[in-house]
Amino acid sequence: MTAWSTLSTEQLSALRERLRADFARLTSNRLSLDLTRGKPGAAQLDLSNGIDDTINGDYRSREGIDVRNYGGLRGLVEARELGSEIMDVPATNILVSGNSSLSLMYLAMETALRNGLSQGMTPWQKSGRVRVLTPVPGYDRHFALTAALGVEMLNVALTDTGPDMQAVQELVRTDSSIKGIWCVPKYANPTGCIYSDETVRQIAELPHIAAAEDFIVFWDNAYAVHDLEFPPLKLASLFEAAQIAGTQDHIVQFGSTSKITFAGAGIAFVGSAESVLARLEERISVMTVGPDKLNQLRHARFLLGRVTEHMQGHAQILKPKFTMVADKLESALGGLGIASWTNPRGGYFVSLDVMPGLAKRVVALAKEAGLAMTAAGATFPYGLDPEDRNIRIAPTFAEPDALEAAMDVLTLCVKIATIESMIDQ
Ligand SMILES: Cc1ncc(COP(=O)(O)O)c(C=O)c1O
Repeated sequence: MTAWSTLSTEQLSALRERLRADFARLTSNRLSLDLTRGKPGAAQLDLSNGIDDTINGDYRSREGIDVRNYGGLRGLVEARELGSEIMDVPATNILVSGNSSLSLMYLAMETALRNGLSQGMTPWQKSGRVRVLTPVPGYDRHFALTAALGVEMLNVALTDTGPDMQAVQELVRTDSSIKGIWCVPKYANPTGCIYSDETVRQIAELPHIAAAEDFIVFWDNAYAVHDLEFPPLKLASLFEAAQIAGTQDHIVQFGSTSKITFAGAGIAFVGSAESVLARLEERISVMTVGPDKLNQLRHARFLLGRVTEHMQGHAQILKPKFTMVADKLESALGGLGIASWTNPRGGYFVSLDVMPGLAKRVVALAKEAGLAMTAAGATFPYGLDPEDRNIRIAPTFAEPDALEAAMDVLTLCVKIATIESMIDQ
């Protein structure tokens, strides 16, 4: 493919006419396509239907607890072991509660803000200005949660090996208003990058070097086992690195089975030092008399000891979808010098960067053609992508035919937006 920067204005104009004709044909088809939905498709949910057969009238947990009744705020032992298998944190350092890790993240940040994350820690709100670092592009719900708690966000770049650690270290060393950092360490949403061993080690040490004494690492390992290839890529253990650094009570890890079993009916985990779990348990006890232990038991009986095998089933469904997205991007845009994208080996998203200033235009064109894309800017705090170039692609939910059609529309829109702007200039 010829890079577009080498084309003459006449060549670009001729190409623009052809692309516009393609676009007119597409819009007349009244398409209704959607690449916004970062959730499992129906075939993936079907992999877990057997979870219903695990109880069969046997409501006693391994320790003999009747799971139908109240209580058990820490979670069943077998559910904590499942959390351990998924999150690579010892079961004794895991609390299981509810169906959403996002709500546990909210609880943890709110606790840090109002109470202190563990005994003896100063509540953030006592220090005036409170900010957390947000590696970008990142997960929109982290940003919404943080904003909802009135905590400010400060962007740092996300590289292929994790956050730009030099920038992170400089900021936390010098500014005591920086109280924490958001991390999605494996198959980050949306780029799919995995933090390197060195990054994990440096992150474990951040609470030591931070000017803020109450610095917290929010480690959202949502895609810990969501590999597309086996044997999977391994993320270094933050728990072990924190033990070496002596920072365990400044590090809080999250995970769930939302994209392992049922996205709306899974179980969620938080992993940390005992002092942090005790504080969170104390706060949870004000909100509930006990979590849904029946669902915890179902999950443990269905998944414990066979998480990898189960995730291979997901990979069989998802790998062809991610391959299709990669092939479509390469065949339509490869070599043109107008866009770059990620090729994740797991997780739920692909991140597409167009030329600066064009992401909103691409998403608007896609809408015109009947394709819904996640709003441009959503991968940045406050919806503000300073360069207006990042677009998140969510390939998991769409059926293969619809995904293929959607990628044709998307790549065409990228070309049209780019050629319009090149000709304008
Ligand atoms: C990075 C990340 N964390 C958390 C979640 C939501 O997790 P849960 O369903 O456990 O609340 C998602 C869902 O897309 C996600 O992408």
